[in-house]
Amino acid sequence: MLDQATIAVIKSTIPLLESAGPALTEHFYQRMFRDNPELKDVFNLAHQRSGGQPLALFNAVAAYARNIDNLGALAGAVERIAHKHTGFLIQPAQYHIVGSHLLATLKELGGEAVTEEILTAWGKAYGVLANIFIGRESEIYQEKAEQPGGWQGGRPFVITHKQAESDTITSFVLTPVDGLPVLDFQPGQYLSLKLAHPDLSYQEIRQYSLSDAPNGRSYRISVKRESRGQVSNLLHDKLQQGDRLEVMPPAGDFVLTARPDQAVVLISAGVGQTPMLSMLNQLLAMGHGADIRWLHACEQGALHGFKQDIHTKSRQHERLLSRVWYRVPTEQDQQGEDYDFTGTMVLAQVQDLLPVDAHYYCCGPLPFMASIKQQLLALGVSGERLHYEVFGPHQDL
Ligand SMILES: Cc1cc2nc3c(=O)[nH]c(=O)nc-3n(C[C@H](O)[C@H](O)[C@H](O)COP(=O)(O)OP(=O)(O)OC[C@H]3O[C@@H](n4cnc5c(N)ncnc54)[C@H](O)[C@@H]3O)c2cc1C
Ligand code: HEM
Repeated sequence: MLDQATIAVIKSTIPLLESAGPALTEHFYQRMFRDNPELKDVFNLAHQRSGGQPLALFNAVAAYARNIDNLGALAGAVERIAHKHTGFLIQPAQYHIVGSHLLATLKELGGEAVTEEILTAWGKAYGVLANIFIGRESEIYQEKAEQPGGWQGGRPFVITHKQAESDTITSFVLTPVDGLPVLDFQPGQYLSLKLAHPDLSYQEIRQYSLSDAPNGRSYRISVKRESRGQVSNLLHDKLQQGDRLEVMPPAGDFVLTARPDQAVVLISAGVGQTPMLSMLNQLLAMGHGADIRWLHACEQGALHGFKQDIHTKSRQHERLLSRVWYRVPTEQDQQGEDYDFTGTMVLAQVQDLLPVDAHYYCCGPLPFMASIKQQLLALGVSGERLHYEVFGPHQDL
């Protein structure tokens, strides 16, 4: 617990933090990678270049300062970050490294405005936050290790099946090398893969949402080839059936929360359909008692993954209705029946399928999800009904 004097000092630094902005955390990361280059094997450097991770860390630090006397407000963010950290196998000793670079950054960027009193207060406050993460992460590690099929750290898996789903998306079925069962996950969660390969300058860790319901024996992920993306291209071009990689236990806080009698609307764009597939397959397997809507947007037919799968399921399950948007259908697409609307996803076109009391799950690029949120609010759906996953450093919509 922090004393009132420390809380007051932290609050007094909010304007300073806000004026520094994400430049603060950019400086922090540059410093940390300079002095602790071994962490380049842990962090995704593309998220440094894009600025996504410095922004996510800045937002977390600023939110901490703003809520320093009401830490309960941070519970959701702590849960999400702790899950993410476990995917990168973050350990307690590393908190000291991050803490020392954060404090040094404050001193270097704040100049005379950052007094000894401020540094002491932030040192204490960082310690409290670090302990919250360390505690929750140790619980998650333990839960994953103790559950049937569970494990801790990286476990060797082999690619047992590789299948193209569209021109850019390929699925991989991963089975443990030891042949033993695998831990069940909650649909919506992701795996973290650890790859070391001669094509890579550093060891790389990436998250991929599970794209099928749990089966106890193997996991399926579905990966989009990203232009100049290191790991996605390696998976598409180099890794084949029989190749091995290390996998961390499933994690993530984007999970189904709807009761069996509540309607569920699954909204995705592009490869954002992966967590939706696992949710959908689980809902169908459990015989969900209320309506399920599958709303998907993509560029055109050649990039429309899993279309046959969803088509078959919609025919088999009365409760499931699917609607698809192609942004730029080709002439060939126009002759087929694989999509319903042209252009970007406009929810007003399917308003009759969208009860305000349904649970909405959404995944796709950030601008897509921000648009969906605005459209749902305009249709009278409360923001709390919308659950979403960002395929990169988190940002609020
Ligand atoms: C929770 C979660 C779930 C996810 N689920 C999925 C999923 O189910 N399926 C899926 O396909 N992806 C998923 N992702 C995204 C995935 O983790 C990877 O980010 C994605 O595969 C890209 O990784 P990469 O190594 O190929 O690209 P990276 O090498 O990480 O590059 C990412 C982007 O940055 C650009 N870039 C890299 N270096 C430079 C440079 N020097 N200059 C300019 N631009 C550069 C690249 O062009 C690329 O577009 C998920 C992410 C998260 C966080
Ligand atoms: C109190 C201290 C810390 C805070 C506030 C913090 C905050 C964050 C946040 C906000 C994210 C993004 C989460 C998301 O996208 O959902 C994140 C991701 C991450 N954190 Fe931390 N973190 C802390 C400590 C650490 C430590 C000690 C390490 C280990 C060196 C670490 C390594 C990582 C990594 C590797 C990622 C993923 C980066 C990526 O995807 O590029 N963090 N952290």
